[in-house]
Amino acid sequence: MTVNPRERLLAVHDLHIVYPGRRRLLRKAPDNHAVAGVTFSVAEGETFGLVGESGSGKSTIGRAILGLTSVAAGSITFRGRPLPRDRHGLQGYRRSVQAVFQDPLSSLNPSMPVGGAIAEPLRRLRELSDRREIEREICALLEAVGLPAETRHRYPSQLSGGQRQRVAIARALAPRPELIVCDEAVSALDVSTQAQIVNLFADLQAELGVAYLFIAHDLGVVRHLSHRTGVLSRGEMVEQGKAREVHDQPQHPYTQQLLAAVPIPDPVRQAERRIARRAANAAPVSG
Ligand SMILES: Nc1ncnc2c1ncn2[C@@H]1O[C@H](COP(=O)(O)OP(=O)(O)OP(=O)(O)O)[C@@H](O)[C@H]1O
Ligand SMILES: [Mg+2]
Repeated sequence: MTVNPRERLLAVHDLHIVYPGRRRLLRKAPDNHAVAGVTFSVAEGETFGLVGESGSGKSTIGRAILGLTSVAAGSITFRGRPLPRDRHGLQGYRRSVQAVFQDPLSSLNPSMPVGGAIAEPLRRLRELSDRREIEREICALLEAVGLPAETRHRYPSQLSGGQRQRVAIARALAPRPELIVCDEAVSALDVSTQAQIVNLFADLQAELGVAYLFIAHDLGVVRHLSHRTGVLSRGEMVEQGKAREVHDQPQHPYTQQLLAAVPIPDPVRQAERRIARRAANAAPVSG
């Protein structure tokens, strides 16, 4: 038996999440079984990429891991322990598990300068109170995400999308988490900024050993960053494995379809794929 040298950080087992259908007059809409028996794990310092079409349940899983959605059945454990329910336990959990979302404007208070936004988790989760120490930490975190220390005096509206996402990452790093749930964290950025932020995520992981659950539509981005990839379809994990294998030799037809929809920057491979697709379409349908 091969032993994984990295310890398991997060384990999701047979997870089910149901959104109850709305009641309208005398009729009730059917319940939405958004996540139906999903199992996967994330090891220390690992990136697990979670992909799937819109509505497949990616964010629902992310929110459940953050303790923001109630679970109908199955389990989520972090370092072998179930998610805490009480306030004190959740506070400790927040220190270990942080999040970065698609739109940093929604998570940053527009009337608070960047320094204040980063100071907040330092005070609340790291329990720092010394003003000078907090200031030093803010500058160190800004430097870690590639922003000048002066950025702490700016407001979110005075920053570009990429700079704002760097601030959101600095804020997520403030409590020194072991896992960050990145839900479409680069999806709203233009291609070149996206590449810079993806590289930043990779550099931070190499430096700090932080693990990521990296949720994205863009398989190219996931392939670049993930060690392992899971493919979600209608609330079920249809395929998971080493990122390279899932991306290069997808086994499940849904993964094959998902990959076929991604434009390949290499014109030769793109042409090969076009030819293969035409041949497949021309093949007689059997059965
Ligand atoms: N708060 C909610 N209440 C009711 N249903 C919800 C809620 N959030 C999500 N859903 C439903 O659950 C399913 C999964 O949604 P989810 O947001 O997890 O998908 P997703 O894979 O993140 O999609 P996208 O790629 O568009 O972000 C969808 O059918 C969605 O309509
Ligand atoms: Mg989503």
